[in-house]
Amino acid sequence: MPKDWFEWHKLYQSENLLQQRLQIVQKYISASLDIAPAGKIQIVSACAGDGRDLLGVLATHPRAQDVRARLVELDPQLVARGTKAIAQLGLTGKVELIQGDATLIDSYKGAVPADIVIFCGVFGNLPNEEVLQGLIRNLPYFAKTGAFVLWTRGDRDGANCSERVRQIFKENHFSEVDFQFTETGNMAVGRHRFDGQTLSAPIDEQFFVFTGTPDKAGLFVSAP
Ligand SMILES: C[S@@+](CC[C@H](N)C(=O)[O-])C[C@H]1O[C@@H](n2cnc3c(N)ncnc32)[C@H](O)[C@@H]1O
Repeated sequence: MPKDWFEWHKLYQSENLLQQRLQIVQKYISASLDIAPAGKIQIVSACAGDGRDLLGVLATHPRAQDVRARLVELDPQLVARGTKAIAQLGLTGKVELIQGDATLIDSYKGAVPADIVIFCGVFGNLPNEEVLQGLIRNLPYFAKTGAFVLWTRGDRDGANCSERVRQIFKENHFSEVDFQFTETGNMAVGRHRFDGQTLSAPIDEQFFVFTGTPDKAGLFVSAP
């Protein structure tokens, strides 16, 4: 049964883990905006929810008006809430939250390559490591050289899942810029810089699948 992601977002009001994760993600978004060269700053966010991570930063960041962003989310209620927040920030026409399938390359056409690429709340919802590898292999289509990719990954049952994510980024021409666990200790947030050459075409038209639950086989876990 698919999760009710609108309900899930209510956990931001009560769960330390999510609040701390959001704080770190926003710190990394802000740091990426701080050093962006003058001119437009292109951003994409996959499975964006109501966009609170990016929109919360843009509410006060001096570069907000330079941002052009496409956020992709399936849930219509989250899209409606985020779209309202975009209007309240005076960013309509610059930031868009579209109701679409974030697993399809088509959803990002015209918005990539980007300077900042956000994949938060995604990696822990992939079925297995093969899918994660495919997703990261396609990121050079999304990222300009020097772009930042922000991601999160929760640990399960004491398994250090984020370690494997870091290794896969390293194998695909990404350098780690930031990495931090939440104070709760079981949620990692990373920021990687893309040092390779941008791809003019994607490798796969559907570059990941979002199942909401990993396979049972304990994949994504780094060897002890
Ligand atoms: C764990 S939540 C993360 C939301 C947001 N990025 C955050 O960190 O608060 C995952 C989100 O992915 C969305 N989602 C699931 N499958 C999707 C798909 N194929 N395309 C777009 N969004 C999807 C869900 O509706 C949900 O809002």
